Amino acid sequence: PARLVVLVSGSGSNLQALLDACADPGYGAEVVAVGADRGDIEGLARAERSGVPTFVLRVADAASREQWDDDLARTVGDHHPDLVVLAGFMKLVGPAFLAAHGGRTVNTHPALSPSFPGMQGPADALDYGVKVTGCTLFVVDAGVDTGPIVAQAAVPVEPDDDVASLHERIKVAERAMLVEAVGRMAREGFAVEGRKVRLGPPSR
Ligand code: GAR
Repeated sequence: PARLVVLVSGSGSNLQALLDACADPGYGAEVVAVGADRGDIEGLARAERSGVPTFVLRVADAASREQWDDDLARTVGDHHPDLVVLAGFMKLVGPAFLAAHGGRTVNTHPALSPSFPGMQGPADALDYGVKVTGCTLFVVDAGVDTGPIVAQAAVPVEPDDDVASLHERIKVAERAMLVEAVGRMAREGFAVEGRKVRLGPPSR
């Protein structure tokens, strides 16, 4: 199976969806470690309940942001991932991380890229007044939610939505999108070709 390292900052419901999917040997992936930028979160508890090793690297404990990025790159690398999944990880990874793991790191974002990048995807969509939003899985690059798109799913905005109700509806679609896309990446392989992510074995 493909080795997944998952990074979280919060409730970890997307992580849980991956852990549940990986329980089926046919899924083709296993979560070999879960990392976080903070302790005491449900995401870490979910990993522990599944017997998956965890690590916590706080920016505040590092000598600098660069040092943190370096530590994160190395600690993730120690687990030899085929794919790194940022699942509600509320930090931007930096140059050292991208040098080590760029091209095999994906992030899930609660909006339809290129609309509404950043930390407030659901709130920004609501404020703008769009009638459809959704979620995006993309290969992480140096920008904020700008990388090549792997998968997207559309979600309607309902007239009486608030940020919480809209984000919850997005997260239902997001978990399904993530499980489906990560499974295909794990089983079929993938290649980043410019702006396109092609699923399937590497072409010659
Ligand atoms: C997800 O909706 C994810 O897209 C979002 O945080 C939520 C995490 O939920 N991530 C971002 O906004 C990243 N900027 P979870 O902890 O229950 O998986």
